Amino acid sequence: MKIWVVVVVVVCVVSNMMESCCVKALAQRVPCFFIFGDSLADSGNNNHLHTSAKVNYPPYGIDFPEGQLLGFEHFIQPFATAAGTDNILDGVNYASGSAGILRQTGQHLGENVNFLGQVWNHRVVMAQMGKILGNRELTRQHLSKCFYWVGLGSNDYINNYYSPSHYTSSRIYTPEQFASVLIEEYCRQILTLYRYGARKVALAGIGRVGCTPNSLFLHDTKGSACVDYINKAVGYFNDKLLGLVEKLNSNFSDAKFIYIDSYGLGGVDPTSFGFKNWSSGCCAVNDVGQCIPSKNPCENRKEYVFWDSFHPTEALNLITANRIFSAENLSDTYPMDVNQLVQISSA
Ligand SMILES: *[C@@H]1O[C@H](CO)[C@@H](O)[C@H](O)[C@H]1NC(C)=O
Ligand SMILES: *[C@@H]1O[C@H](CO)[C@@H](O)[C@H](O)[C@H]1NC(C)=O
Ligand SMILES: *[C@@H]1O[C@H](CO)[C@@H](O)[C@H](O)[C@H]1NC(C)=O
Repeated sequence: MKIWVVVVVVVCVVSNMMESCCVKALAQRVPCFFIFGDSLADSGNNNHLHTSAKVNYPPYGIDFPEGQLLGFEHFIQPFATAAGTDNILDGVNYASGSAGILRQTGQHLGENVNFLGQVWNHRVVMAQMGKILGNRELTRQHLSKCFYWVGLGSNDYINNYYSPSHYTSSRIYTPEQFASVLIEEYCRQILTLYRYGARKVALAGIGRVGCTPNSLFLHDTKGSACVDYINKAVGYFNDKLLGLVEKLNSNFSDAKFIYIDSYGLGGVDPTSFGFKNWSSGCCAVNDVGQCIPSKNPCENRKEYVFWDSFHPTEALNLITANRIFSAENLSDTYPMDVNQLVQISSA
């Protein structure tokens, strides 16, 4: 039995370890942290947008962590509330639920901020930072020390390629061609971030989208534990993303890019971590797979891999976060883990 999880991320990196650990005593590992992503990381950017892809209601947030592996005292603020404040010096979270790499992705659910828009928002923040720090050189130096996390692409499959009633992409492209289209656009945004001074960047692959409760509900698994053709499709994207990381590292000697193998991280045996349920979410969901407002979630959240139809529980995020932060296996985070990445000294 495998854990078939959409592993996720950013939330992971900011999540704390078990209370028994001395994490809160640790010094801050990196001065700033910028997050580009989707609902796996959105901490409030969609709250003011016209969309069903927002979760600012209970039971969401029930396990939201206080401390973090990276040693920040507070979680990284969303762009929606951080912009224009001094909080931007610690970094900003630009992630937007339902957003993807392509502009049209997720739009049938309402508004979102796609990768291009998130990079645009980063430019806005850079200008504000210049005003706070006083000059360009200090801003450049500060930005070069920050940790950047990019986790996008799941929605380009869930809320685009595999939603043929709303999008034409699956009629235009084979899965392999579609992965190339995504990577081309993705690469463009990463090169922009590099030009904007990003020097320590983690690029997260896509997890096992074919194993989410949503995929199991919507598609025929043909006897398999997951929807194999969806997993195969995201595999093309992941292979190309790993290739991109290698190219970026060989092209830019003054920056470091790491690949997070979200797919591989989802391949562990859930029972060995005490999980008892990996095919249904812990909360009762509505027709878009989100928890029904104010309805009590399952009794033992630690026994569930999934929280709702798409997203992992905090219990799983903690495991993932620890594996990404200090990796035992180089294939989880290639060519180094997050702890090593943030410790590299920058110019
Ligand atoms: C890396 O450099 C090569 C040669 O200059 C170039 O063709 C390629 O587009 C670059 N790729 C990236 C991702 O920077
Ligand atoms: C998981 O929980 C759901 C309902 O919460 C239940 O219907 C299902 O049988 C459980 N699956 C396993 C493997 O325990
Ligand atoms: C590391 O991961 C690879 C790929 O998943 C696997 O084949 C290998 O056995 C793992 N090594 C260890 C020491 O766990």
